[in-house]
Amino acid sequence: MLEIIENPTSASDWCKNQRAQGHCIGFVPTMGTLHAGHQSLIERSIGENDVTCVSIFVNPLQFNDSNDFETYPRNLESDYKILEKLGCDMVFCGTNHDMFPESCGLDDIEILDPGPHASGLEGDYRPGHLEGVCTVVDRLFRFVGDCRAYFGQKDYQQLLVVQHLAKILGYPQIVPCETVRQSSGLAYSSRNRLLSGREETAATNIYRALTAAKSLWNTGVRDSQKLCATMKSILAESSMTVEYAVLRDPDNWQRPSQKDGLDRAIALIAVKIGEVRLIDNLRLDHGI
Ligand code: PAJ
Repeated sequence: MLEIIENPTSASDWCKNQRAQGHCIGFVPTMGTLHAGHQSLIERSIGENDVTCVSIFVNPLQFNDSNDFETYPRNLESDYKILEKLGCDMVFCGTNHDMFPESCGLDDIEILDPGPHASGLEGDYRPGHLEGVCTVVDRLFRFVGDCRAYFGQKDYQQLLVVQHLAKILGYPQIVPCETVRQSSGLAYSSRNRLLSGREETAATNIYRALTAAKSLWNTGVRDSQKLCATMKSILAESSMTVEYAVLRDPDNWQRPSQKDGLDRAIALIAVKIGEVRLIDNLRLDHGI
């Protein structure tokens, strides 16, 4: 039976009570409008823990664009049904005031430093976004306490920021999860439902571009300019604004500088199709 909790103190008490009973807690933070990507995290948490708690909060601090915040899809009632069906134990869905009780507006909230991995890419194109993520995730971790917390690799830079935060706090254990994709290769995202049919077809070029870079990598190409140019030429086949199509070192987040000798790399893309911003990435040195 899904327990719906709005008050953070009650959510904390619920978690403390579970731990007191010796239960290991899995925690999946989300902004709702749950899709197959979220569901895979929740299913994994249910499989690996005694109880699973999901949070749903559309965090205003992480939206650098007010239109993006206003149009961000919200579907609380259908999310509850999905959580119930999956067998989730508790959902925490506080309001702005519940999350940030010390503030009258958003301006007086103390914003956390998201650390070294916040520089570049999302840090450049969405100023304040990773600061907002870090600030809300810190609160959520403090409400839930010690647990295993599940995050998608789809938001790779966010994952690095959250891993850094957890290292500083000393908890929770962060579990990185694989990106779940539609059969077209398009990564599931709450924003996909804002795409028209034509825009969704264009969006499939994101994964095509990533896999083309990976195919080149698999044939031995290590020239980052060549790998990025390949991604950009595929993205240019349809109408979209490319914010970045780059490589990074997946661990230290450095830009690859040398033409040869790269032994690990992740390719990351951000585009805008109409008003909809999409991000995706693929490890070049892993898997298929
Ligand atoms: P949201 O976009 O709702 O995503 C919640 C979690 O689901 C994140 O860890 C994200 O990486 C993961 N996720 C999203 N799409 C995925 C996909 N296709 N496959 C696998 N996992 C996927 O990320 C956020 O919310 C927020 O920034 C949050 C961490 C909740 C802080 O507000």
